[in-house]
Amino acid sequence: MKPSLTLYLAAPRGFCAGVDRAIKIVEMAIEKWGAPVYVRHEIVHNKYVVDSLRDQGAVFVEELDECPDDRPVIFSAHGVPKSVPAEASRREMIYVDATCPLVSKVHKEAERHSNEGLQMVMIGHAGHPEVLGTMGQLPDGEVLLVETVEDVAKITPRDPDRLAFITQTTLSVDDTAAIVTALQDRFPKIVGPAKEDICYATTNRQASVKAMADQIDALLVIGAPNSSNSRRLVEVGKASGCAYSQLVQRAADIDWRALEGVQTVGVTAGASAPEVLIDEVIDAFRQRYDLTVDQIETAREDIEFKVPRVLREAS
Ligand code: F3S
Repeated sequence: MKPSLTLYLAAPRGFCAGVDRAIKIVEMAIEKWGAPVYVRHEIVHNKYVVDSLRDQGAVFVEELDECPDDRPVIFSAHGVPKSVPAEASRREMIYVDATCPLVSKVHKEAERHSNEGLQMVMIGHAGHPEVLGTMGQLPDGEVLLVETVEDVAKITPRDPDRLAFITQTTLSVDDTAAIVTALQDRFPKIVGPAKEDICYATTNRQASVKAMADQIDALLVIGAPNSSNSRRLVEVGKASGCAYSQLVQRAADIDWRALEGVQTVGVTAGASAPEVLIDEVIDAFRQRYDLTVDQIETAREDIEFKVPRVLREAS
């Protein structure tokens, strides 16, 4: 007889509106211009998504100089430094920007503050493509990066009274609040968004993990190791008291021995993980357990972003 286990599915989980739009952009571009269509950086951080778009005719590269002039190129959902579209225009390439509109909003915020003479502080993770893209909206030295509360003491702004902050969209809500407080303590005149720039999808997914944490023995987050919002979900699980909180890319990664004796498991997915991978995980549990599946819903999402006009127009 199979042991019994209850699986709690977090809702919302998985694809956000920005990821959905970015994938549609690649698919529509291939339909419009034929293959190959080049994509600068993984369109979204998920191997399954990238592999299936590659099968349809997308070619993934890291830099623009790997793309020929005469094929269309798409910029990933994370955003790009200003120099990238400028270079594509100089080479007279067709390009489509799949930057999530909520990331573009942060780019505009940074530019607006900078035009008002404020130096920017960005809260984010060094090296993440979104951070490179956002910092690359302004000239070198105009954006100071802080990753932790400790970093706040280390930065040396031009004028401590003329500062504004922005954040990466996929950060931990709680860690970011602590960094914002540290910034406001050290620089009382710092200007910023009403809360932070963490997007609705990141906020909702973290809230749903917190809501289920006291009902589960273990948490599985479906997502890629380079997906910032997925990694934050693992941390939120741990911080909310879930001793076993693990990132898995798909069912094959589940460490079944670690789950021995566990009776309730929470499952969520990062914003770039497709629902098909969640179904795969549920099926894997069903093969091993007498399974009950329940959903814990903490919010409803109905946000949708339009694709750029060039793809809505007939060829
Ligand atoms: Fe955009 Fe947030 Fe998704 S910034 S890409 S809606 S995780």
